[in-house]
Amino acid sequence: MKGVILAGGTGSRLRPFTHIINKHLLPVGPYPMIYWPIFKLREAGIYEILIITNKNDINSFLKILGDGEELNVKFSYKIQRNEGGGIADSLMCARNFIEKEKFITILGDNIFEDSLKPYLQAFQKQDKGARVLLKEVKDLSRYGVPQLDDDKKRIKAIFEKPADPPSSFCVTGIYMYDHKVFQCIDAIQPSHRNELEITDVNNLYAKKNELQFDILQGWWIDAGTHESLYKAFQKVNENKLGDDTY
Ligand code: G1P
Repeated sequence: MKGVILAGGTGSRLRPFTHIINKHLLPVGPYPMIYWPIFKLREAGIYEILIITNKNDINSFLKILGDGEELNVKFSYKIQRNEGGGIADSLMCARNFIEKEKFITILGDNIFEDSLKPYLQAFQKQDKGARVLLKEVKDLSRYGVPQLDDDKKRIKAIFEKPADPPSSFCVTGIYMYDHKVFQCIDAIQPSHRNELEITDVNNLYAKKNELQFDILQGWWIDAGTHESLYKAFQKVNENKLGDDTY
């Protein structure tokens, strides 16, 4: 299976650093942020990785990651068409890289403890559709929040940054899709914040009853704010997640 890491966007919640540096290159422990999702993909046996980022940042990624030889993986790169266009817009750049396969995509600011292996195995067994990973969190209004059915087996719908969250889980930025995801992205419209929302894509799968989920067991952090970046730094150090762990 191939992997896609989304490392574009404006990083507005991490200003002023992000005026001069892409947020995914900010330090988290001994490595730039993007190394952590790379390590997780590699540990799960995913070596072909596409990195999608902004036009002005691509040279920095090339400089630090190169073709992947040093990390024993193979990187490809794509430039995101519109920096503020949203996660789904950015994912569209993976269409040619993925072709007709199933794949996993991770938001480059998501740092987490669990191995991806069991979740990928479960997705391999799924004959079609998508799979998302959930995590119980406190600050729900920052995230996509799923509404589950009564026996908690199915996601009925996901609400993006809800004022009145329908569950205590957030949808993390770790998504597994079949190739039909690109048709779903084609079918959605920009949201009120003028972005193509990944939540709208996931809701199309949910409507067809093709959206499965697992719940992450270990810690998970979206390191996209100053506060959460600091937490990620602490977690990585506490857990001594060095490259030798992977
Ligand atoms: C994005 C998604 C949201 C998800 C979150 C996880 O939010 O839109 O559904 O819960 O990532 O990191 P954003 O970071 O773009 O605000």
